[in-house]
Amino acid sequence: MNSFIIRGDICYSADKNRLITKENSYLICENGICAGVFDQIPERYADLPVHDYSGMLVMPGMVDLHIHAPQYAYRGLGMDKELLDWLNTYAFPEESKYGDLDYADKAYTIFANAIKKSATTRLCVFGTLHRAATKLLMDKLEDVGAVSYVGKVNMDRNSPDNLREASAQASLADTERFLKETQDKYKNTYPIITPRFTPSCTDELMQGLGELSKKYRVPVQSHLSENPGEVEWVRELCPWAKYYGEAYDRFGLFGKPEKTVMAHCVYSDDNEIARMKENGVFIAHCPASNTNVASGIAPARKYLELDLNIGLGSDVAGGHSESMFTAMVDALQVSRLYWRLVDSGKKPLNIAEVFYMATKGGGAFFGKVGSFEKGYEFDAVVIDDSLLPHPQPLTLQERLERSVYLAGDVKALKAKYCRGALVGEW
Ligand code: GUN
Ligand code: FE
Repeated sequence: MNSFIIRGDICYSADKNRLITKENSYLICENGICAGVFDQIPERYADLPVHDYSGMLVMPGMVDLHIHAPQYAYRGLGMDKELLDWLNTYAFPEESKYGDLDYADKAYTIFANAIKKSATTRLCVFGTLHRAATKLLMDKLEDVGAVSYVGKVNMDRNSPDNLREASAQASLADTERFLKETQDKYKNTYPIITPRFTPSCTDELMQGLGELSKKYRVPVQSHLSENPGEVEWVRELCPWAKYYGEAYDRFGLFGKPEKTVMAHCVYSDDNEIARMKENGVFIAHCPASNTNVASGIAPARKYLELDLNIGLGSDVAGGHSESMFTAMVDALQVSRLYWRLVDSGKKPLNIAEVFYMATKGGGAFFGKVGSFEKGYEFDAVVIDDSLLPHPQPLTLQERLERSVYLAGDVKALKAKYCRGALVGEW
């Protein structure tokens, strides 16, 4: 089962500096696991069926380390405020609607369809604080065929009455029930502990969430050092924390004991960065959101130089698009502005680096994911770049680079595979 061969022009990352490109080659999927890329079909695989995508680009499925499903409905709207006002004006009123399961059903159907038709095969998803709606979201994502971590959000302070849990104890009880109901329910969909961010969660709630993460061995996702006003507020709320990340770390919500992904990290200081490195915390770099809600630019170059775990996030609806191709372009562009306007010592990112972040870098959060090296889980997308004709022959790397910028314009996604299963062909 799930053993076949894909023929095409194959691109994948070996590491952050090394993009491998192999024209007209054969990518082997053996029981859902990648067995390598070959010039010719090896004898022992001669009987496997060949899916022929000759002339098309074949690359690992994309990994979105940070997306808010309930915000998908208002993407592209309300980009006129910065974070804290933006949350109060747009995010919280929209998210409060998910107490109504009919609304959640409509909105999450639209979201799930969009993910299905995207190049994303793995994603870390925020739901809302509503357990029932978040379970509905998980049902829908399971049907999409992608692999996802989905969080019931926790919020017990500093939020409107209709989007705040009654107490830390009530929030924890509901979260424990959510974990029990979802932990073993799906093949490809898993729960993740999701304190919204420090301003929304009391210390008592954080303490309990750390205990639940440890007890049920569930990973963690949240936001970190995104916006100057937010960072200042956390200083007031947690005067005992030497840096923002300590407000998670103290409660076992910062990479240990369970893996953790933190979105943004625009204003992380040296202490915070050192601790992220020590604990293997993943950074979800969300460049579109950095600009749309005017947060500032995360120093992705610095994080790459320091060998931190880093991937990309769309952060819909702080980001306006779920496309990870768009996220790669945005990461390239903001890195140029960072170099020009902020620190000329931090050279701009290149295509190999953003491709790594969108695949193998973020994929590491899911295990051996995001590459075509032997032993990696088989997630792949096929891009038909003949829809982007060019008057001269291009190298495979040039075709990849161009597709990252342009494939979305011409709907060039041809096929998507996840864990060795065909998710869709278009
Ligand atoms: N910080 C807390 N909540 C949110 C959110 O919904 N989006 C973003 N970008 N940052 C947040
Ligand atoms: Fe976010």
